Amino acid sequence: MTRVLVTGGAGYIGSIAVSMLLDSGYEVTVLDDLSTGHKSAIDSRATFVEGSILDSASIAQSLQGCEAVIHFAGKSLVGESVEKPQLYMQVNVEGSTNLLNEMKSAGVKKIVFSSSAATYGEPTESTVSEESAANPSNPYGASKLKVDELLAERSASDGVAAISLRYFNVAGALKTSSGWLRERHDPETHLIPNIFKATQEFPLKVFGTDWPTPDKTCVRDYIHVVDLINAHISALKSVQPAHHQIINLGSGDGYSVRQVIEAAARASGREIPSIDVERRAGDPAVLVASIEKAKKVLRWSPMRDLNAMVEDVFNSAN
Ligand code: UFG
Repeated sequence: MTRVLVTGGAGYIGSIAVSMLLDSGYEVTVLDDLSTGHKSAIDSRATFVEGSILDSASIAQSLQGCEAVIHFAGKSLVGESVEKPQLYMQVNVEGSTNLLNEMKSAGVKKIVFSSSAATYGEPTESTVSEESAANPSNPYGASKLKVDELLAERSASDGVAAISLRYFNVAGALKTSSGWLRERHDPETHLIPNIFKATQEFPLKVFGTDWPTPDKTCVRDYIHVVDLINAHISALKSVQPAHHQIINLGSGDGYSVRQVIEAAARASGREIPSIDVERRAGDPAVLVASIEKAKKVLRWSPMRDLNAMVEDVFNSAN
């Protein structure tokens, strides 16, 4: 049986990956320092090593018996990255370098990496393909791009088999036999969880109503976390020695902030209290993926629409 190391397996996306990998017949080791993740989110069937990707000894320990790595661990807040660029370079870039060094020592050659649409920055085309220029507009995106470049180097120099998956807006939750696995950030910055936290006293802030879009609010490409992880499991089977590929993961459809609010109101059967406020710094107007490459290379298609995402987030929070 194949054992996979999942770094960041106590986080929102990582914990769902762990549970789905185990259900698919993989054995799993989790490496997580619990700085933003939750121990309770780690599936009890997984082996857990509490440690950081900044600590080589912890990485070496967690790689024992593994044949492949899915690398989620890292800092992931755009706003925080603007305030603390060094932290993002250290954890995301140095941490990933440590991981690749330890993989080399342990003879583990397969890696699927959690990259981001933030690597593209402000897109110049209506849909973003992997051929689009990478021009990150914040340190978070820059750190993810550096790791993509590192993987390309290591595939050429060391024969590493690698895929970087560039996520667009991940949403949704997974119901398991021991409860829901869902987004639990503090503070929460993401739109869909914030919609369901909104009250009359603390309404949802709609960031900008003067964007060049049909209803003047930002358009994003939302992908259900379960579809996203299915693509990772396909990627694990698709990596090829000495080959690095970059693949976008989204749904290929764009929805405005207002459309997401309407879908959430339908799912919850209540109005979502909201107020219009200024634009948020660093937001592009429109960010929608071309997912043709994912469909072709991974033989994968997203199956869950925006309604499924908001329903799962609503049900997981209630
Ligand atoms: N938004 C609001 N109110 C909120 C939160 C968000 O109006 O309370 C808006 C944002 O302005 C944006 C949209 O909802 O237009 C989505 O915002 P999110 O914060 O949910 O997600 P982002 O698009 O900012 O970020 C996502 C990922 C990042 C990644 C980025 C790529 O979460 O990790 O896409 O650009 F870097």
